[in-house]
Amino acid sequence: MDQQKINHMSEKPRFISLEGSEGVGKTTSLNFIRAFLEDKGYKVLVTREPGGTPLAEDLRATLLSNRKETIEPDTELLLMFAARCQHVNQVIKPALESGTWVLCDRFVDASYAYQGGGRGIPFERINQLHQWSMQGFVPDLTILLDMSVDEGMARTRLRGAPDRFESEQIDFYQRIRDAYLQRAKSEPQRICVIDAAPDIELVQKSIKSLLQEKC
Ligand SMILES: Nc1ncnc2c1ncn2[C@@H]1O[C@H](COP(=O)(O)OP(=O)(O)OP(=O)(O)O)[C@@H](O)[C@H]1O
Ligand SMILES: [Mg+2]
Repeated sequence: MDQQKINHMSEKPRFISLEGSEGVGKTTSLNFIRAFLEDKGYKVLVTREPGGTPLAEDLRATLLSNRKETIEPDTELLLMFAARCQHVNQVIKPALESGTWVLCDRFVDASYAYQGGGRGIPFERINQLHQWSMQGFVPDLTILLDMSVDEGMARTRLRGAPDRFESEQIDFYQRIRDAYLQRAKSEPQRICVIDAAPDIELVQKSIKSLLQEKC
């Protein structure tokens, strides 16, 4: 690996998103990346989707709550992008402009995976909304934590009551995983796949190398 790059990570603040299905270790990895960057002296903002502003957090609660009324796939997509639009303009872009690195627990690729792969909305339709609402804005680097659906579910099963997404069946998660991997294949420079199944220490080692190489 390029020694100069290891010693001199970017002075320009980066926008990094963490993606992957339930329980793959996004939040755990995000905390690791935050500590790694702060240790280097960078200012870091950690945020999440859906959410990240008071209004977007309200939309998150609406989206995640279990309810009798079925939410139409397009309604879900629009609410996700409404929250994201607020988040991008009020939090993410201002932070980057002020010199702060932004780490986001899920971002736009999650819409392609969940509303696209999971709910069956064509990628092209999602892309139209992505272009329309934020001119196709994407992170500088997206880390896709990938693991078999069974293993991911085993990790989440240890937690409390499932939310509206976590209550879905196994094939929903398989489609999400496939959609994420398809996204990574189509944008290999930006979306980097990391095997999330090994021990936390090994996953973190891979993430550290990736940051040193890409940032
Ligand atoms: N590499 C790993 N090996 C074993 N356990 C792990 C690993 N990474 C995370 N975990 C554990 O798995 C659980 C889920 O991790 P975490 O909350 O980081 O996942 P997540 O992707 O943020 O989940 P969610 O999508 O539900 O927010 C936690 O209990 C965490 O300690
Ligand atoms: Mg999490």
